[in-house]
Amino acid sequence: MNDMTLTKEQREARLEGMGCKRKRVEDIRFTQGRGNYVDDVKLPGMLHGDFVRSPHPHARIRSINKDAALKVPGVLAVLTADDLKGVNLAWMPTLAGDVQMVLADGKVLFQNQEVAFVVATDRYAADDGVNAVEVDYEPLPVLVDPFKSMDADAPVLREDLEGKMTGAHGPRKHHNHIFEWTVGDRDLTDAAFRKAEVTIKEMISYHRTHPSPLETCQSVCSFDKIKGELTIWGTFQAPHVIRTVVALISKIPEHKIHVIAPDIGGGFGNKVGAYPGYICSAVASIVTGRPVKWVEDRIENLTSTSFARDYHMTTEIAATKEGKVTGLRVHVLADHGAFDACADPSKWPAGFFNIVTGSYDFPTAHLAVDGVYTNKAPGGVAYRCSFRVTEAAYCIERGMDILAQKLGMDPAELRLKNFVRPEQFPYQSALGWEYDSGDYHTAMRKAMETVQYEDLRKEQAAKREAFRRGETREIMGVGISFFTEIVGAGPSKNCDILGIAMFDSCEIRLHPTGAGIARVGSKSQGQGHETTWAQIIATELGIPADDIMVEEGNTDTAPYGLGTYGSRSTPVAGAAIAMAARKIRAKAQMIAAYLLEVHEGDLEFDIDGFRVKGLPERFKSMKEICWAAYNSIPPGMEPGLEAVSYYDPPNMTYPFGAYICVMDIDVDTGVYKVRRFYALDDCGTRINPMIIEGQVHGGLTEAFAIAMGQEIRYDDNGNVVTGSLMDFFLPTAVETPHWETDFTVTPSPHHPIGAKGVGESPNVGGVPAFSNAVNDAFSFLGSTHIQMPHDFWRNWQAAKTLGALG
Ligand code: CDP
Repeated sequence: MNDMTLTKEQREARLEGMGCKRKRVEDIRFTQGRGNYVDDVKLPGMLHGDFVRSPHPHARIRSINKDAALKVPGVLAVLTADDLKGVNLAWMPTLAGDVQMVLADGKVLFQNQEVAFVVATDRYAADDGVNAVEVDYEPLPVLVDPFKSMDADAPVLREDLEGKMTGAHGPRKHHNHIFEWTVGDRDLTDAAFRKAEVTIKEMISYHRTHPSPLETCQSVCSFDKIKGELTIWGTFQAPHVIRTVVALISKIPEHKIHVIAPDIGGGFGNKVGAYPGYICSAVASIVTGRPVKWVEDRIENLTSTSFARDYHMTTEIAATKEGKVTGLRVHVLADHGAFDACADPSKWPAGFFNIVTGSYDFPTAHLAVDGVYTNKAPGGVAYRCSFRVTEAAYCIERGMDILAQKLGMDPAELRLKNFVRPEQFPYQSALGWEYDSGDYHTAMRKAMETVQYEDLRKEQAAKREAFRRGETREIMGVGISFFTEIVGAGPSKNCDILGIAMFDSCEIRLHPTGAGIARVGSKSQGQGHETTWAQIIATELGIPADDIMVEEGNTDTAPYGLGTYGSRSTPVAGAAIAMAARKIRAKAQMIAAYLLEVHEGDLEFDIDGFRVKGLPERFKSMKEICWAAYNSIPPGMEPGLEAVSYYDPPNMTYPFGAYICVMDIDVDTGVYKVRRFYALDDCGTRINPMIIEGQVHGGLTEAFAIAMGQEIRYDDNGNVVTGSLMDFFLPTAVETPHWETDFTVTPSPHHPIGAKGVGESPNVGGVPAFSNAVNDAFSFLGSTHIQMPHDFWRNWQAAKTLGALG
């Protein structure tokens, strides 16, 4: 029986299903200091590991002397590459098909590279041991500038690759070259440029930065010699992949490896890859027979684990005089640092950068990416972005503004003229993607109306006149960004990690009393999965979200999944959740039919149970069906109510958005003020509008940081000069602008609930909006492109270079 006293709306509200601004259930423990992070794992007899790191960016190691360190009270062991060679672990495979030193083997290739691992009874003793290890270095010439990496006389960085003219992604042109990746039709594109009435060409750099999550990377490894089992607690965005990789390289059978990712304090791509700390703590645990904890400090995190971006994009657009784009040609020089440890699906050496045609209908395009080695930390992770999509969005969105400037056209008008039209979806892009859905014109027009775009341009024109007359020292910029993302890696036909297809998974078990548990292959790092995954089940199964417990991160209990990064959770795991729920609903329908003594086809699902069509009083609630599943099932049916789904999506999802930033800059000081930032996102069906808003706020704050100051910068000698939070810009509430959010809804046609990802969108769209605002502000003084990050100092320098300081 359903409660006939409740209205339809009340029954729906009780579920707190999709569309509800349900409060985040995980925040009860987080806000009360009751989260369980890796550093909270404390095991009897646990030891602590710490790294000796290289002060040199490029040097030969003549010798390592452990003697003094081993005499430090509390120090039990010092591991070096020679020790790891005994277990064949001195080098490890990277996700990009390269290999990476776990501990420096013969030489070091970047500053702060791991040289030795000291294991001690506590962290202080480990640190004292680190200081006592004596390493004799012979400094070598340093290569910092990627544009010089393929010079004939450039130093040889990777001696292990000497003579190898083929890498994981094809031929190598030089000893510091990693790969060349080309996509598109070169001849057709060249022809479009030859015929073009207007062209632009600009080298647009997206500087090196870092995801810098609140919690650094860490692990606790505990090897049980009796059982031969290894348990690893770690800050892993993809725990199952870690288990498989550990099994492959350690030769411990996979069923004897238990990987647990407990609560994670932010990932943003930083916690996808495998780091030397994981390997060393595992080896140290096997050697000592005791659990070993490794916890990075902030400087180690910023300087040695996974940088992001560092793409230098020579961008050319061909167009007609009227502003119709006819061709796009992009060459990227990708600085990968010392090892190619990019976290991309295996077949994509530059991730999904070939989304660089953006939201525009380019008839032809060509892209070439050259990856090179330099003496910098490895990485190349998708920092709140889907595999180089943010670089692509920045490239095309700056390019479109530069084209508008050359044509003397309004940048919004140029975009509206070139958008893929709604009737063109599914749209085949010139660089190979099939965009599933979109309505770009509606989103752009809504954004323009909300910010009163025409008035802003009038105000800007008046301000420019006032500046010219010397009445103000302030310039005004209006930055537009219209981005298309590609999220949800991915269809197994073109996405895998180390050969494992990129599906995702969910197992749901409903208990007799109508409550249940859902175990999912994704892993939240703050995105609120415990809240939203239960909302999908609530709507699909008619069980209140509060009655569903969501569990992720334990490889012994969760079904195999490829983890959470690149906004893939909703497109892939979210779909698996809906599909598992639908399997249960199909069985529930059979049980309901049996209980109501009708044919299954005579029933319809109605919010929280099944009803006989045309007979509203004949109803079985899901709660009643759950009970029945354990005692009154149809003859021949298995008892219980549970299902597993492994979902391999047919395509990615393509969220999009229109962002507008209004900024004032004082030319005499370079100080900027973000007067207004409006962000319209379309992520298809919205599961939890409050969580989406939170995701957008967080992503915009990171975009603001990147565009306006955040940077991992090296000096000419290869020293990291922004390696601590004294220099690396992490905005607080004081600097962060006010965000206005808005939305349109264009459901994904192939996703079971029509949802697309959203977590990365604000970072992808935000960076070009900020940068376009700065560039727009300066454009009337004669500049075409000013490189990011746009901090006060660089703004002041730009004003000086443009002669605006009088
Ligand atoms: O993979 P990740 O969790 O980082 O990104 P996502 O799939 O974009 O999801 C981020 C959060 O936003 C999750 O809690 C989602 O359930 C939620 N979300 C939503 O409520 N509606 C959407 N259409 C997309 C995401």
